[in-house]
Amino acid sequence: MTGELSPIDKAKFAAAKRSVDFVEDGMRVGLGTGSTAAWMVRCLGERVREEGLKIKGVPTSVRTAELARHVGIEVISLDEAKWLDLTIDGADEFDSDLNLIKGGGGALLQEKIVATASDMMIVITDTAKEVAHLGAFPLPVEVSPFGWQTSRALIEEALTNLDVMGREVTLRMNGDAAFVTDEGNHILDLHLNRIGNPRQLALVVNQIPGVVENGLFIDICDIVVIGHGDGRVELRDINAGTVEEDRIDFLESDNLFSDI
Ligand code: 5RP
Repeated sequence: MTGELSPIDKAKFAAAKRSVDFVEDGMRVGLGTGSTAAWMVRCLGERVREEGLKIKGVPTSVRTAELARHVGIEVISLDEAKWLDLTIDGADEFDSDLNLIKGGGGALLQEKIVATASDMMIVITDTAKEVAHLGAFPLPVEVSPFGWQTSRALIEEALTNLDVMGREVTLRMNGDAAFVTDEGNHILDLHLNRIGNPRQLALVVNQIPGVVENGLFIDICDIVVIGHGDGRVELRDINAGTVEEDRIDFLESDNLFSDI
């Protein structure tokens, strides 16, 4: 069955499958958004159904909530959970300090709140997302629809004083209309090419009126699980300073691919 998946999808699956080993009975788990996170939700659902694992999931988007319920995970809100043991999510880029760019799927606001309210954040990814410097992937910034053009102008002005290599800012579209997040906001994508000081950029952008949140996740991720197309996975723990290698057997997971 996995023969029908691309190497990138196999890599995403391998990372997702390995990441759910961190989930234990009784945990409250933040559930990320995106194609890698969707594999993780499926793998977690399989453990709930087959092992009777008892967990409560806090989704980071409407689509993740729908998938989680579909695969048998009990869904609660962050306010009900209050604090989480673990969040597992994908990313668009990560660097050697495990700082991230997220929000390619437009869910960065809930993702950042949920990850920050967790004892641990695990990022699941394929090898293509590792970078020496963040910024090749356009940085998503969620903005209020009211006055978004003013917010954009203020961001452009702020960028002239920041250590970045590009300064184009575009409104994310969904067909002919502006993309709308689950919170009813818009997304501005900042084409920076290279971010010299991600921490400073994140602080400056969040000071601009109309900016709700930016997609830089600084000092939030604890562990990155990097999947390869042949089933190898690498786990890097930034706090312990360890690197482990493991392997996922795709054949054991054949039932998860049956609806592809
Ligand atoms: C959604 C995100 C995703 O985690 C990110 O875009 C990665 O997505 P994918 O796993 O589909 O490559 O930040 O807002």
